[in-house]
Amino acid sequence: MSEYLLEVNNLKTWFYTFRGVVKAVDGVSFSLKKGEVLGIVGESGCGKSITGFSILKLIDPPGQFEGGGITFEGEDLLAKSEEEMHAIRGNKISMVFQDPMTSLNPLYTIGQQIEESLAIHQTQLGKKERRAKAIELLKAVGIPAPQERISSYPHEFSGGMRQRVIIAISLATNPELIIADEPTTALDVTVQAQVIRRLLELVRSQNTSLILITHDLALVSEAADKIVVMYCGKVVERGTVTDIIESPAHPYTVGLLRSIPRLTDEQSRLEQIPGMVPSPFDLPPGCKFAPRCRYCQDICRREEPEEAVMTEGHRVACHFPLKGGLACD
Ligand SMILES: Nc1ncnc2c1ncn2[C@@H]1O[C@H](COP(=O)(O)OP(=O)(O)O)[C@@H](O)[C@H]1O
Ligand SMILES: [Mg+2]
Repeated sequence: MSEYLLEVNNLKTWFYTFRGVVKAVDGVSFSLKKGEVLGIVGESGCGKSITGFSILKLIDPPGQFEGGGITFEGEDLLAKSEEEMHAIRGNKISMVFQDPMTSLNPLYTIGQQIEESLAIHQTQLGKKERRAKAIELLKAVGIPAPQERISSYPHEFSGGMRQRVIIAISLATNPELIIADEPTTALDVTVQAQVIRRLLELVRSQNTSLILITHDLALVSEAADKIVVMYCGKVVERGTVTDIIESPAHPYTVGLLRSIPRLTDEQSRLEQIPGMVPSPFDLPPGCKFAPRCRYCQDICRREEPEEAVMTEGHRVACHFPLKGGLACD
């Protein structure tokens, strides 16, 4: 069997809208080993969420898989029926979404919702065991007085506590992989850090793999083993955290890194990447980043760059990759 838990290979997920085709995911490749944490970063609209939804095959018309493959535990997910995917979702792969209010049912207590998930996915557990396990999970995600809080309704929890509950539900089935899509964006910064830290402790201790989708490169640089940088539906750079943070090769990655606020030096002014993400209906013909790139040359406007290997595992799709974040002449 492959050394990878998940392999995404040249995946294409397109939407056929009345305005034209949106190539939301357009030839994305990356891989993940058991227990690894992978960060997917990029500005809003770059295809991060659709990549996550694609792995769970939660793509509805007008979206469709246009090509490529997704292999999970050696099996081709794109060949699976909806019934088979249903068994995988929430069981082997679970997803944590941005807004905990939309994933929790306001009419049921926290305990009922965790226990329901356990009843579906861990059928060997009896009623009492499910309650005990639910309390254990609430404790694991850092909810104080779990024996009492288990009978509360979602609206009785703060945003941070609700997101902890969602994480508890996602962990309830001992999944192999959790896909967390901007899991803490709706929370304030201190709470974000606490929730993410707890999620990481839990996945690390259980050797669960995690895909952390976020526009926050600072967050993934702390949390992840590997990073995939997306731009306009494509992977522009991927590698280990060290590759990406210390030797970024794509000007887009460098731009993202320069726009991270640093708490330590108040003086440094943040550099924003000039220009905007182009409309998916009006993508430039060559490199999608060319119109915003300070190193852009003629070939960049004409030809789409192929992914080049920098070092083992560090790949960049750029005609003129940078060395150590600087242009090489
Ligand atoms: N249901 C849909 N129909 C048409 N276009 C969509 C749909 N969902 C997402 N898109 C488009 O796909 C692109 C990628 O979206 P998304 O993956 O949500 O970006 P991100 O998560 O990086 O912000 C965007 O241009 C978005 O407008
Ligand atoms: Mg998104």
